[in-house]
Amino acid sequence: MELRQFINSINSELYRASKASRRGFIKIGFITLILLAGKSLTEARISLPFSLRGGYIALSSYTSPMYEHKQRKRNNHINPVLYRLDQLQNSLSLMGSRIQSETYKHWTGIASHVEKEWSKLAKFLKLFPTRQKASIHRLDDVLTSFKSVLRNGKEVDISQLLKACRAHLTLVKSGGAALRLVAKDMENNLQKAEALHSQLRKSNKGQNLSSMLSIERELGLHNGNILKDDSAAMGLLWIRRSLTFQMDLYSSLLPSSTKSPSDAAMEAYNEHLLPYHGWMLQKIFPMSLSQMPEKDVFIAKFGGMERQYLNEVYEKEIVGKLSDLVRIWEPLISAWKEEFERMDMEDVRRA
Ligand SMILES: *[C@@H]1O[C@H](CO)[C@@H](O)[C@H](O)[C@H]1NC(C)=O
Repeated sequence: MELRQFINSINSELYRASKASRRGFIKIGFITLILLAGKSLTEARISLPFSLRGGYIALSSYTSPMYEHKQRKRNNHINPVLYRLDQLQNSLSLMGSRIQSETYKHWTGIASHVEKEWSKLAKFLKLFPTRQKASIHRLDDVLTSFKSVLRNGKEVDISQLLKACRAHLTLVKSGGAALRLVAKDMENNLQKAEALHSQLRKSNKGQNLSSMLSIERELGLHNGNILKDDSAAMGLLWIRRSLTFQMDLYSSLLPSSTKSPSDAAMEAYNEHLLPYHGWMLQKIFPMSLSQMPEKDVFIAKFGGMERQYLNEVYEKEIVGKLSDLVRIWEPLISAWKEEFERMDMEDVRRA
């Protein structure tokens, strides 16, 4: 059988099985087993420059249909078809990438053929939702950690806040060129706050925002609301401004918004950062933000995937999480601001 035919037959099997029949389900398992054993590849007379056994071991998460059947009984809260396809998709992409990379070195011609077939199969499988995407997990981490920053609606937990900002920074860095300066700025400011936090950790002091700000004030670091440049207070002030800016920017990705990310970025910049930027930053920041991509590219980036793989299911999931993030930030940012104003530490000088 030709590799192409073989893959076509898997496609149709998958399609049939996706209608949730249990028999089809086991059939997929069987076909996958054959596929993973490399039968299709030998039949297509492609000898591969790596041992298929190695490939098979790399896919050891694959288990026999019978075992799966027992497992499924235990994990019956998971929709069995999606669970199976999930694993299958993961296994196939693992094997696909192995074939792509290993083969390419020595067998360019064959590789391009194999690669084409794999990507067809992979595209088909992308029709199914999966939770395997690494960066969706990244977004999940950010959400979970920000969720526990604000206590009783007004107390800002510093350890949790710094942890959440660290996780968020990783996400911002994956946002591409337009967010590079935002990330850099956030990292600098985060380091200022982390420095004090790690000093205070032993003494168990400064656990919330107000006690941390009080400590610096009592140390005589600041002159009224003229904050010391490398202080934690200064760092936290600018992180808050950055998150306020980002909150408006990410809101433009939600279905309720008609703004493009680049318009939203400029508006948010003018409102939340420009009043505090000196002429130099006023030149650099907008220039950096002007590289803002289209909505769907941006959404794909936050989901850690190429735009071509973004489909309705992924988009809905990513946008839903961004919307949760914005919702969590709102009360946090206002509590954060209130605390600075209450302590009269809102430094409004231009940087
Ligand atoms: C912050 O912590 C201090 C003591 O550690 C406590 O007295 C204060 O009430 C806390 N602030 C808020 C806003 O809960």
